[in-house]
Amino acid sequence: MAFFRTTKRDAPVEDDVFSGPLVSLRGVEKAFDIPSGKSYVLRRVSLDIAPGEFVTIMGPSGAGKSTLLSILGMFDGAWQGEYYLRNVAVHALANKDRLSLNRKHIGFVFQQYHLLDDLTVAENLDVPLSYRDVPRDQRAAIVADTLDRFQIVGKKDLYPRQLSGGQQQLVGVARAVIAKPGLLLADEPTGNLHSSQARDIMELFVTLNRQGTTIVQVTHSEENAQYGSRIVTVRDGWVVDDVRTGDGGRGTGVGG
Ligand SMILES: Nc1ncnc2c1ncn2[C@@H]1O[C@H](COP(=O)(O)OP(=O)(O)OP(=O)(O)O)[C@@H](O)[C@H]1O
Ligand SMILES: [Mg+2]
Repeated sequence: MAFFRTTKRDAPVEDDVFSGPLVSLRGVEKAFDIPSGKSYVLRRVSLDIAPGEFVTIMGPSGAGKSTLLSILGMFDGAWQGEYYLRNVAVHALANKDRLSLNRKHIGFVFQQYHLLDDLTVAENLDVPLSYRDVPRDQRAAIVADTLDRFQIVGKKDLYPRQLSGGQQQLVGVARAVIAKPGLLLADEPTGNLHSSQARDIMELFVTLNRQGTTIVQVTHSEENAQYGSRIVTVRDGWVVDDVRTGDGGRGTGVGG
């Protein structure tokens, strides 16, 4: 029995329509200047992700997975190439427009959690709702419901430093999904969790994906990868493999 109850409210709300891929990368490159010259972290990455896909990015440590995800999440502006999200040319946007596109469409689980230190657990969960058009009187109810679903009600008034690593990770996942993003980007979302909690998170992702959320997760876990429907492998900054893996968890009757 998963520790999450999922509700109709989980379905993403997108108010405009578009056609074609949700995400399209063309020749994306990222390099750092180092004393001996340029150090490339991503090389000519071209990738299309259709609405409704559940993609897993795998590859060795240092391959560029987090770098790629943070470009998709628009947390990194220092790269070359083209990135279209819902047909919007992200590479041509001013920072403030990237930020508003991010806040409207994207939920992000950071590998290092990145909760806001000065806010309590409940306040951290409220942040994404405050960016959307969620009426203030509904926000508290949604936060309460999410705390309940993630079984962290008892932690709601604590600050991130008062939580264990795994608890911070759970709050990070809760924060990423609370505002029903159309695109969920998750960097090692279960790396610090017990295996049964990890399964619950993956089942939550499958449920969200069935309800229309497009997911891109980074993981070293073969087991987590099985929940998705496509595996993209990155090595030394290059996409070296891209395979479909069936219907992931969607045929198993999980969630709903
Ligand atoms: N400021 C920087 N200067 C130079 N190189 C950097 C800098 N930041 C990151 N890198 C390099 O970018 C590469 C890719 O890092 P990234 O975090 O994307 O790897 P990853 O695939 O997510 O690895 P992991 O599985 O360990 O999380 C690494 O080799 C790292 O050393
Ligand atoms: Mg990483």
